[in-house]
Amino acid sequence: MTNTKLSNSSPPTSTVGRSKPVTLPTEPERSLWQDDNVSVHYGDSLAQYSSWPAPKVIVSDGAYGVLGFEGDTSDHLDLPRWYEPHIEQWGLSATPSTTLWFWNSEIGWAAVHPVLELHGWRYVNCNIWNKGKRHIAGNVNTRKIRRFPVVTEVCVQYVREARLQGMTLKRWLLSEWKRTGLTLRRANEACEVKDAAVRKYLDQGHLWYFPPTEAFAKLADYANTHGRVEGRPYFSADGARPMTAAEWSKMRSEFNCPHGVTNVWDRGPLRAPERVTANGSRRAVHLNQKPLDLMDQIIRASSSEGDVVWEPFGGLFSACVAARAAGRRAFSSEIDSTYFQYGTARLSAGTQAQLF
Ligand SMILES: C[S@@+](CC[C@H](N)C(=O)[O-])C[C@H]1O[C@@H](n2cnc3c(N)ncnc32)[C@H](O)[C@@H]1O
Repeated sequence: MTNTKLSNSSPPTSTVGRSKPVTLPTEPERSLWQDDNVSVHYGDSLAQYSSWPAPKVIVSDGAYGVLGFEGDTSDHLDLPRWYEPHIEQWGLSATPSTTLWFWNSEIGWAAVHPVLELHGWRYVNCNIWNKGKRHIAGNVNTRKIRRFPVVTEVCVQYVREARLQGMTLKRWLLSEWKRTGLTLRRANEACEVKDAAVRKYLDQGHLWYFPPTEAFAKLADYANTHGRVEGRPYFSADGARPMTAAEWSKMRSEFNCPHGVTNVWDRGPLRAPERVTANGSRRAVHLNQKPLDLMDQIIRASSSEGDVVWEPFGGLFSACVAARAAGRRAFSSEIDSTYFQYGTARLSAGTQAQLF
């Protein structure tokens, strides 16, 4: 794909949403709700990104191409255009340690994937939320249906591809070592290993490993002590001093893999009491409310306490609720008045289900 934006020449297909389960007649009293850990805005997230601190995690759960909310498109073909302005902005605020979790249907993700790649997001893994047969129980007429019933969504992990002086980290490490004038073999001596430094950290193929912080510090130290004097500093991002181990650790995303978790998440559809319903009825307020345990899992896997989580398409702010409970700071926007009011009431009430 060439490095050009998607054309805006033809208007998107119908964006008239299906009727919402619940609509509140009132407008929100305030356009900003916040506490110590969460700030959520009423309005278009595109207007907010530049005011939010750089994200460690972005949890995107926007359009699915199913007319799921006012403004969703009617099929996947228009999703790339729907997402592109957001994806472009995320790329401007992201750092090399940012992880993006992109929720969607399989075909929705497939349609948007090239746009994500185009704006510097690198695919890591596709996780499948398997809602199981309970999701379709009693709702399928097997004589009429023309495909197997769908009970899945995907949550796809992307990271940024860090670059230093225009090079990937893999190329930059080798290029810095070569600048020192030292033989490759001496990288092993620097790291006090038999052959692992050359084999792993200076490799230019698929066997390349990101040097752990201690190994990076040893390489940088050795190079700046023994490398050609004229070329110093080596392993420097600013040309003035070598990068510290702490700075190096931020050159890639965080991932803490929990035990026993695979990329297939068997987890039934949301039910009461977690499912937010309109007071006195069993009607779900939002058709796309996500499970808090899955939000918790992805947030904890890719961030630490105090880190910043963005939820660009708030809905009932499930990522914010989970982020706050995990000690992260969360920022979100919701464009729909009813969802904003239910979502902020949910944030005020904890995870309580019955709100209005
Ligand atoms: C799929 S839902 C998110 C559901 C949410 N993850 C939850 O668990 O409640 C997408 C939401 O994004 C909102 N939305 C769509 N475009 C938006 C925009 N540009 N800015 C802010 N919110 C937007 C929609 O109104 C909808 O509520």
